[in-house]
Amino acid sequence: STRVLTGITTTGTPHLGNYVGAIRPAIVASQSANTDCFFFMADYHALIKCDDPARIERSRLEIAATWLAAGLDPERVTFYRQSDVPEVTELNWLLTCVTAKGQMNRAHAYKASTDINEAAGEDPDAGITMGLFCYPILMAADILLFNPHKVPVGRDQIQHIEMARDVAARFNHLFGAGKEFFVLPEAHIEEQVATLPGLDGRKMSKSYDNTIPLFEGGSKALKDAIARIVTNSLLPGEPKDPNCHLVTIYEAFATPEQAAQFRADLVAGLGWGDAKKQLLELIESHVGPMRERYAELMAHPEQIEELLQIGAAKARAIAAPLLKEVREAVGLRRMN
Ligand code: TYM
Repeated sequence: STRVLTGITTTGTPHLGNYVGAIRPAIVASQSANTDCFFFMADYHALIKCDDPARIERSRLEIAATWLAAGLDPERVTFYRQSDVPEVTELNWLLTCVTAKGQMNRAHAYKASTDINEAAGEDPDAGITMGLFCYPILMAADILLFNPHKVPVGRDQIQHIEMARDVAARFNHLFGAGKEFFVLPEAHIEEQVATLPGLDGRKMSKSYDNTIPLFEGGSKALKDAIARIVTNSLLPGEPKDPNCHLVTIYEAFATPEQAAQFRADLVAGLGWGDAKKQLLELIESHVGPMRERYAELMAHPEQIEELLQIGAAKARAIAAPLLKEVREAVGLRRMN
């Protein structure tokens, strides 16, 4: 069977980009017969960018409820919180010791911050922690601990998956003695929605504050966000260019026929106000039923906690034997 693994960082409210880029393809994969899935809340990663404990706790709950509301079946999927699996941090160290600093120098997770600092004429390292610098190694540990073949993610995560492959290959080469400890994971990317744009047309992202929330705030928040999607000032009746981010967001939820019709209507002069109304109806038809389930789940955090504990036990039962082999391979074997 094919192993599939993916995670979401617990620093904010799940948005449409998380849903179409990672959650939806992961859920679809989990529903096909021959897959064995691992989906988790990356709360160790959250500490890298967030020092607000209440926000991390809230986000963990929202993300867990989102996965479940979107159709995750905890009987079929190993569903857990990264910080409940301490084997992740141990593997993180073993991998840190075989990862070249030069390779991490190229990681855009931290380089984005140095670039901003430099543009502002500041010390390039200002505000950059070792956690941020080593972010891809922790992510490699998340992945390699479970040897997945496929990792469903948005395009922004490709470099991290490539780095995980490099780390895996290096470890296999150094310590495998002909045995492949680690499977080389592959990013699984839905081409059409690999980068969902946000309100302003840039990538939808918590850090750009241009997101459309998936469930939080109800249909009112969805409507308000859609109203803020940036368009041009063409009037109803004037032909619109359908190659714009509003259409890309529409297409992430539409059938090919719906998408073709929407494009044609815009070219024929559909007004932006009506276009937004259609977009709202389309998204609401997908998200509305899940949102009801989300609200029920959010009202019972203790039930979610129970599921996560069961998931952590399942994950650790798989992680522990692999970690034992890895420890022995690097020279940490017991003498009795
Ligand atoms: P994070 O939390 O930033 O995003 C979670 C997932 O959502 C995808 N995504 C998008 N996809 C399309 N369009 C967008 N605008 C968009 N915004 C976000 C991301 O690509 C991601 O798949 N480092 C990861 C979390 C992580 C992880 C892992 C993922 C930690 N360990 C192991 C896979 C495997 C992150 O910060 O994603």
